[in-house]
Amino acid sequence: MKAIVFDGTENKLVDGVTVRGPGPGEVQVRIVASGLCQSDLSVVNGKIPFPSPVILGHEGAGIVEAVGPGVTMPAVGDHVVLTTLATCGQCAPCTSGHPTMCRESFGKTATPFELDGTPIHNFAALSTFSERIVVQAGQAISIPKDIPLTTACLIGCAVLTGVGAVLNRARVSPGDSVVVIGAGGIGLNVIQAARVAGAATIIAVDTNPEKEPKTSLFGATHFINAMAGDTVAAVREVIAGGAAHVFDCVGGEAITSQAMEMLDWGGQLIMLGVAGPETKLSVPASTFYMDRSVLGCRYGSSRPGADIPKYLDLYRSGRLLLDELVTKTYELEDFESLLDDARNGRLDRGVLLMQS
Ligand SMILES: NC(=O)c1ccc[n+]([C@@H]2O[C@H](COP(=O)([O-])OP(=O)(O)OC[C@H]3O[C@@H](n4cnc5c(N)ncnc54)[C@H](O)[C@@H]3O)[C@@H](O)[C@H]2O)c1
Ligand SMILES: [Zn+2]
Ligand SMILES: [Zn+2]
Repeated sequence: MKAIVFDGTENKLVDGVTVRGPGPGEVQVRIVASGLCQSDLSVVNGKIPFPSPVILGHEGAGIVEAVGPGVTMPAVGDHVVLTTLATCGQCAPCTSGHPTMCRESFGKTATPFELDGTPIHNFAALSTFSERIVVQAGQAISIPKDIPLTTACLIGCAVLTGVGAVLNRARVSPGDSVVVIGAGGIGLNVIQAARVAGAATIIAVDTNPEKEPKTSLFGATHFINAMAGDTVAAVREVIAGGAAHVFDCVGGEAITSQAMEMLDWGGQLIMLGVAGPETKLSVPASTFYMDRSVLGCRYGSSRPGADIPKYLDLYRSGRLLLDELVTKTYELEDFESLLDDARNGRLDRGVLLMQS
């Protein structure tokens, strides 16, 4: 089968990759569509250290082709959204509704793929830039068959992360003020979830002024061009006291410091952007005296089995825009142009069509 293999230097489309069959509790999925997230690019540019060779991609949707012993759901033929949460299902976080905190669900790598006898790592317990993958049954969430898989794939990371950060982690309330720094795949979902939660003011901040119309379509009430002067002052011109919630969807010391300065008393910074492992933050300790706080947020603090059906209901009723997240689709052979468009800020989300 075909897959995009990253050898530590470049991504190559290769034919002849194999994947092992599904063991007990696992399913084999034929990937139909996969989004490209900034976290995949971060492996390529070295910001996220990862062993190679590896097949990247962690935002996928497809069709179940085979199930291993003991699997009762999903069933062969089901359309599924894939999630990165390869959990144990039995620990305290798993059984109390916090699967993103399961120790089994993060930082484990495996080599279910092979090319000419060389084992290939999976990424984020998935590897959706492959025509087929093997995952835990619980990572494949069945969805209705009328939902386009080219749209559904984005639920696997951008939607779960962005919408979950607002509804599960920050718990934005009606009338709240929200700032979203970075209006890419994650940021647009934060914006629209803030609209769904009833936020009164939603300020989108981005270095790319061409993002403005999209942010407004998704629910932003204001747009600030981060290249056009003092962003903190511009935010405080709109909300004098500062914001109740600031979502950092970029990452890095400078952005996080700016984000802290945008907070109102009692406000909270939700960190979604992933900075390099060496990045340190420097914040005046007095910031916290007035009840400000910083919240980390992995994968929207999601519970995919519960959240995905809820988000699909919001999509069907027109309140979550999912089709509109897809700027462009690409054939497997055009992976390099997908990378190029993503790096040059031309995409909200680009989606790779895995079956040519
Ligand atoms: N916490 C999590 O679980 C999680 C999950 C997925 C992605 N992420 C991280 O979230 C971040 C965003 O991912 P994405 O896929 O949305 O990226 P993206 O490339 O789609 O979007 C990034 C956006 O930020 C804008 N931007 C860049 N620098 C900026 C700056 N200095 N000020 C304002 N805007 C700026 C870009 O123009 C772009 O619109 C990445 O760091 C990614 O690794 C985290
Ligand atoms: Zn991602
Ligand atoms: Zn667990």
